[in-house]
Amino acid sequence: MSQSNREQWTSRFGFIMAAAGSAVGLGAIWKFPYVAGTSGGGAFFLLFIIFTLLIGLPLLLCEFVIGRSTGKEAVSAYKELAPKTKWHWVGIMGVVTCFLLFSFYSVVGGWILIYFGKALTGALSNPAISYEGLFAETISDPFIALGAQLLFIVITILVVSRGVQNGIEKANKYMFPALFILFLVIMVRSLTLPGAWEGIVFFLKPDISRIDSSTILAAMGQSFFALSLGASAMATYTSYLDKNVSLTRSAVSVVSLNLMISLLAGLAIFPAVFALGFSPAQGPGLLFQVLPAVFSQIPLGGFFLICFLALFFFATITSAFSLLEITVASLTQKKPEKRRKASWYAGLGVFLLGIPSCLSYGVWSDVLIFDKSFFDAADYLVSNLLLPVGALFISLFVSFKMKRELLQSEFVRGSKIASRFFGIWYAVVRYVLPLLIVLVFLNVIGIVRFTQ
Ligand code: PFF
Repeated sequence: MSQSNREQWTSRFGFIMAAAGSAVGLGAIWKFPYVAGTSGGGAFFLLFIIFTLLIGLPLLLCEFVIGRSTGKEAVSAYKELAPKTKWHWVGIMGVVTCFLLFSFYSVVGGWILIYFGKALTGALSNPAISYEGLFAETISDPFIALGAQLLFIVITILVVSRGVQNGIEKANKYMFPALFILFLVIMVRSLTLPGAWEGIVFFLKPDISRIDSSTILAAMGQSFFALSLGASAMATYTSYLDKNVSLTRSAVSVVSLNLMISLLAGLAIFPAVFALGFSPAQGPGLLFQVLPAVFSQIPLGGFFLICFLALFFFATITSAFSLLEITVASLTQKKPEKRRKASWYAGLGVFLLGIPSCLSYGVWSDVLIFDKSFFDAADYLVSNLLLPVGALFISLFVSFKMKRELLQSEFVRGSKIASRFFGIWYAVVRYVLPLLIVLVFLNVIGIVRFTQ
């Protein structure tokens, strides 16, 4: 298929909603609070903001430039920009990363569906309920958990198989603004609970003594995960973007929205954690335990909980679209008519790969890899290794392999002020970004020490 009859996003707003839809999902809403809760609260949040602005934003622009300058999905984009080299392996690694990421991502997607079902039947509004017990019981039933995970994947397949414009863009345009508004409501309720102050201090006051090598790695991994970076998924999304839209303005919008949702999630959850007597270090169950408890404290809470879970589901599924899209796009680059078939094969493959992660919260909870459950091991591998390594290669590719003139023309197009920042961006991508990522790794393995 020639480039001219390839599908495109219909507007800048549509693209930003789609890119923000890919970015904002479990990362900002579910993972961010629980990792902040286990990794030092305010100190983690501060590092997360620094990494997002210093590495995330420039890297997002790298992926945007790769996607838009070629108009091709990840693997072909690297091939076109660096023919007869091995750089397309960065694209292949991105596809593999997204595949693995989707395998455990869909497990949590399934949990949301289960909770949604429970909320509809009123099972979550019982004041006598133990929210910790309910969470453990919900996710440990293998049939329900696997069934819900499969349902989540099938919904993703159905949308992705319809193509970018019809499926992904339309869905995102409405879901995203609605999510934002509901989060504001939850935040106000959480902040007005008696005892909320302690949570605000935990979340917003950085305690520098809590920063160690694993907090730094977690914050860096989280900034990539939350912005969908390092796996070329954003490059693939940008390949459907019109030539005249400003990449810099779009990137700033996506990063701001993502930071805002993370802040809202933290402010919605931590005040309630302390006010209602939970521990912030609950792990992956944090949101699922705390939010139903918050809703049980307010009038019409059952209704609000249903709305929240619906929007949480939408935010998650819009990220899942991008995870599946990168595989489907690379499988169908030459044969777009095979999109439907490719979506089904890829989606079902993800399900099979995700079975151990799903069962690791139930019957396989004793099976450990390097002391971690399947789920945690897959998440650690993706967030703390594959995404940062992918990011490292992407920054090297853009700054050392792509032509500076091409980068500049993509960077400045559509924006009057972007040209002032090109030099800084280029220097950051070429020197700061790779150096920082390598330093964080060296710090983790103990070769360089800038923390205890
Ligand atoms: N950014 C997504 C989220 O926060 O839920 C997850 C994600 C999607 C990561 C796509 C990486 C990716 F390529």
